[in-house]
Amino acid sequence: MRPIQVEVTEVEREGDGIATIRWDREFDVSAGEFGMFWVHGVDEVPMSYSYSDGITVRAVGDATEAMMDLEPGDLLGVRGPYGSTFDVPEEEVVVVGGGTGMAPVAMLTEEAAAAGADVTTLIGAASADEVVFRDRLSEVADVRVATEDGSMGFEGLVTELLDDVVDEKGEPSEAAACGPEPMMAAVLDRFSGRREDVQCSLERYMKCGFGVCGSCCIDDSGSPVCRDGPVYRGTKLDNGEFGVYHRDAAARKEYF
Ligand SMILES: Cc1cc2nc3c(=O)[nH]c(=O)nc-3n(C[C@H](O)[C@H](O)[C@H](O)COP(=O)(O)OP(=O)(O)OC[C@H]3O[C@@H](n4cnc5c(N)ncnc54)[C@H](O)[C@@H]3O)c2cc1C
Ligand code: FES
Repeated sequence: MRPIQVEVTEVEREGDGIATIRWDREFDVSAGEFGMFWVHGVDEVPMSYSYSDGITVRAVGDATEAMMDLEPGDLLGVRGPYGSTFDVPEEEVVVVGGGTGMAPVAMLTEEAAAAGADVTTLIGAASADEVVFRDRLSEVADVRVATEDGSMGFEGLVTELLDDVVDEKGEPSEAAACGPEPMMAAVLDRFSGRREDVQCSLERYMKCGFGVCGSCCIDDSGSPVCRDGPVYRGTKLDNGEFGVYHRDAAARKEYF
């Protein structure tokens, strides 16, 4: 599939090394879907949509650092949208996001609120500089923040904040998470008897983005994350590599 070109309209600094890039047309995308974004002359990388016309990027290497330098008028190649979507809860959901894992769950927060659900969204970050979408989501959800250094909100891990919120509000009928995989594994453990009620969005090394090359397949099922995921129900993640390891570009295991 050939990329289409979009023209960057805005690059908004969200925090330390994090920016939201918006472009000149809206796509028909739902929470959880991702695109393959081609930074001309650098690389093509997967990114979840944080808006129907935008992505939210953390600078970690060549492509993402080049994205930070984009300016209005620059072109970006896009293939997709690809992958599975979050099922949108209509009654009650606790949404847990860590770092730029907030991108897809920000859309989910808005979609669930629009469907009439009572939404509590927990934003986890290392420090206040890395907290994204607090104001945006406060309009539609009960938003709580956890920072590891205590510079904003609850001091500690977002999963510890989740424990407090469950003590306060009771067990939610559904939960959804995106962020560092040990964090998502902890969320799944918290609801271990109810794995079907938890949705998690995974990151794996992606090349084709649509189920052909095999670079993103997970053990033991062999499921291609780009096609069957990135969003899975917890029942699909109960053995094999989830929370334990992922594979690099050369398919070598990297343990979390
Ligand atoms: C479905 C999906 C959604 C994602 N959504 C976001 C998002 O919303 N915001 C965000 O900041 N990041 C997101 N990522 C991660 C993002 O793709 C990587 O940070 C990016 O590819 C790094 O590329 P780089 O050239 O800057 O860094 P590199 O130096 O090339 O790589 C740094 C690290 O990024 C990962 N990575 C590199 N290339 C890829 C690739 N082709 N596929 C998957 N991982 C790769 C590897 O773990 C690598 O060790 C997502 C990844 C996936 C799979
Ligand atoms: S990226 Fe090629 S099969 Fe998933």
